[in-house]
Amino acid sequence: MDYLPFTRPTLDETTIELVISTLRSGWLATGPKVAQFETALANYLGGQRIIRSFTSATGALQIALETIQVNPDQEVITPAMSFAATANVIVRVGARPVFVDVNLHSRNLEPETVEKTITPNTRAILPVHFAGLPVNLDAIYQLAKQHDLRIIEDAAHAIGSCYKGKPVGSFGDLISFSFHPNKNMTTIEGGALSLTSSIEANKIDVLRFHGITRDNNGEMDVLLAGGKYNLSDVAASVGLGQLPRLDSFNFNRRKLAHYYLGRLQGLEHILLPEQGDEGHSWHMFAPLINFSQFKTTRQGFISAMHEKGIGIGVHYPALHLFSAYKQLGYARGDFPNAEKIGDETVTLPLFPQMTETDVDRVITALCKTLKIKEPT
Ligand SMILES: Cc1ncc(COP(=O)(O)O)c(C=O)c1O
Repeated sequence: MDYLPFTRPTLDETTIELVISTLRSGWLATGPKVAQFETALANYLGGQRIIRSFTSATGALQIALETIQVNPDQEVITPAMSFAATANVIVRVGARPVFVDVNLHSRNLEPETVEKTITPNTRAILPVHFAGLPVNLDAIYQLAKQHDLRIIEDAAHAIGSCYKGKPVGSFGDLISFSFHPNKNMTTIEGGALSLTSSIEANKIDVLRFHGITRDNNGEMDVLLAGGKYNLSDVAASVGLGQLPRLDSFNFNRRKLAHYYLGRLQGLEHILLPEQGDEGHSWHMFAPLINFSQFKTTRQGFISAMHEKGIGIGVHYPALHLFSAYKQLGYARGDFPNAEKIGDETVTLPLFPQMTETDVDRVITALCKTLKIKEPT
């Protein structure tokens, strides 16, 4: 039987043809395909936004922080449960990440906790739409308004997600997407920012490419020590092939996630992720398993599933327990929910080409591994 990975990108022949035609065009780096991709993404998000693409979401997030000028003594509030990039970029611009705990079911930060963490030094909130389930944006933007804060939404998992019927990234301050191959759509590596201010978009253009500007005569100047984060036309061609299929990818993800939820509900010592509504794009399906109750460990579970031909991911260990963040004074016990998720989470296979039969196969293997009766 084929190995079932926890994720796999869907690349069709049209996309492959698009890439080949870009390779043959002679223009490989940033050019017409990047412009086309940024326009297509802006249209996908309703046509009211400015889009800037990047070589990664990590780059997009860092440039977003540089754009709003977070100063070294300032704080950025972010969840203790996310991928390392979310917090790393805050440190890389010299600011301090201030972690907050997340809800055990949604895995998202909660506005009430954020509010308690705001200080006069807080400059921004960096929420993460974990696994594609949107955070409570109304409350977060309300807090931002009250305290004069900027919001950078880490929507790495949430391209195609909707909040109250509106696509994530179609409204709000600065929203960052990732197009890494394990995301809901890919450009191989890549990311994007959605924003509304043309002044900030111009600033991003400078920050994203060496600090370079040109005057009307084409004379070059370097305004600041910029970075190099421009997407290539080859990568943008992949994105142009993916974007028209994103909604159907997410439809399949949602269907499979609901099937998982239906089959796994009621199992003792297994905490299922929150179902959310139709706006959830199900970037991943990650239950929490209390391994000690099953007299095993997560590593033992992962190895046993692997032997049965099934790939399992871990997304993610709690951020504040990594060495780089313990150095800032964080310790075990600070954020119990993030820690429980970090200790117990397993990402089960979920990607658009999977079928319900594949999900059944995962559930059979999971029940055998945990030595429990398979639910009917
Ligand atoms: C929540 C989150 N933020 C940011 C990133 C960084 O994305 P990229 O790999 O495109 O830099 C990731 C990547 O997995 C992520 O999961």
